[in-house]
Amino acid sequence: MSDGEKPLKVAVLGCGSVGSQVVRLLEEQADDLGARIGAPLELVGVAVRRIDAPREVEVPAGLLTTDAMGLATRDDVDLVIEVIGGIEPARSLILAALKHGASVVTANKALLAEDGATLYAAADKAAGGEGRDLYYEAAVAGAIPILRPLRESLAGDRVTRVLGIVNGTTNFILDKMDTSGAGFTEALEEAQELGYAEADPTADVEGFDAAAKAAILASLAFHTRVTAADVYREGISDVTAADVASAREMGSVVKLLAIAELNDGAVSVRVHPAMIPRSHPLASVREAYNAVFVESEAAGQLMFYGPGAGGSPTASAVLGDLVTVARHRLAGTRGAGESSYADREVLPMGETLTRYAVAIDVDDRAGVLAAVATAFAEHGVSIKTVRQEGRGEDAQLVVVSHQATDAQLDATVEALRGMDIVRAVSSVMRVEGESDEHG
Ligand SMILES: NC(=O)c1ccc[n+]([C@@H]2O[C@H](COP(=O)([O-])OP(=O)(O)OC[C@H]3O[C@@H](n4cnc5c(N)ncnc54)[C@H](OP(=O)(O)O)[C@@H]3O)[C@@H](O)[C@H]2O)c1
Repeated sequence: MSDGEKPLKVAVLGCGSVGSQVVRLLEEQADDLGARIGAPLELVGVAVRRIDAPREVEVPAGLLTTDAMGLATRDDVDLVIEVIGGIEPARSLILAALKHGASVVTANKALLAEDGATLYAAADKAAGGEGRDLYYEAAVAGAIPILRPLRESLAGDRVTRVLGIVNGTTNFILDKMDTSGAGFTEALEEAQELGYAEADPTADVEGFDAAAKAAILASLAFHTRVTAADVYREGISDVTAADVASAREMGSVVKLLAIAELNDGAVSVRVHPAMIPRSHPLASVREAYNAVFVESEAAGQLMFYGPGAGGSPTASAVLGDLVTVARHRLAGTRGAGESSYADREVLPMGETLTRYAVAIDVDDRAGVLAAVATAFAEHGVSIKTVRQEGRGEDAQLVVVSHQATDAQLDATVEALRGMDIVRAVSSVMRVEGESDEHG
């Protein structure tokens, strides 16, 4: 970089957990960033809601402003980083920044999953049709590089399935339940005490956060527009200690998975708890870590692992994007825009092929096994394994099915619940991560 190189001007919108770390790294690594880009970066403003709030970073004097729109649309700003979060005003700010010719980096999964298409269209139209970059690596799985691998590294392959542990709070809770035998409420309380769960944990434990990420992963993996509303979602608040124990007996562990896969050419995208075998690479993802497991035709199986949240890890992904879009600005080019050419159908959950493990408390008498098997057969579901446990009052059957549609499996469980010989269906859990040649 020559001393006289004109700086690229950067505006940061938001200075909370992520924004404060972005500002810190921009200052601390200014020389390296400038050298890597080929021009220095100059931070020209940081937009916040409250000027006087305590901050984790000392923002250089005069840079804080409450006028986010004024900052995002300044004529001299080249690069805008949006780390406010939520739908509004983030969407209006990003659209205005693009319209004014800035390139945009954002960590905003909620907005991308709800209305990514509008943002992409604005990026295409920006700068009089020249187009500008819209990058958002930090929106899924924090520091873990996963969107660029899907968008670029795997652009020559055919992805068939993405399985992700993309929410640290729920992974922490399920890991606690698995290792200590705790129930959901107890494990949630511990997560809250340790700062892994919010005081209102709904967005995490009910799977909303993971569903937004699943939509983004599915869109990129299958070149199809998928929004959060397309994602079938079940959280973990109904997962019981008995479910976790039942999985353990089967050599499996319960994880909240974001799943995007091809079912006969259509896309199935969903978030729900599922059992995976302990031998599966995702089973080794402990505590609040995240991982995304990708299967593709030519590459085979790939796993991306690391910290999925936190100010500093997330800021690492934001700055990686910033370097890329800054390089593009200098070269007068831009990266790939939206790729939705495949336009695949998104399957309703009922039509999605899946597998269930069902633990059934039954009367301990002759003919029970046959009656249970008949209930499965009547709904077109074939059985992969049956294990019988206990005797008398404690008699239990654990049935693992082959693949069937979720509707068939659901109807089977309903039928089991109505049978005289069935005292209770004590656990129902979907099964993932095993091959199922039969289905
Ligand atoms: N935290 C993580 O670990 C993580 C991980 C991955 C992705 N993300 C994403 O990163 C984004 C930011 O998350 P965060 O955790 O950093 O949020 P945060 O801590 O709540 O910070 C939000 C910031 O935005 C500012 N803000 C809010 N409304 C504003 C407005 N109308 N105008 C100007 N500034 C406004 C706030 O100002 P004040 O400080 O004055 O209140 C605050 O500085 C979100 O999209 C989130 O999903 C976060």
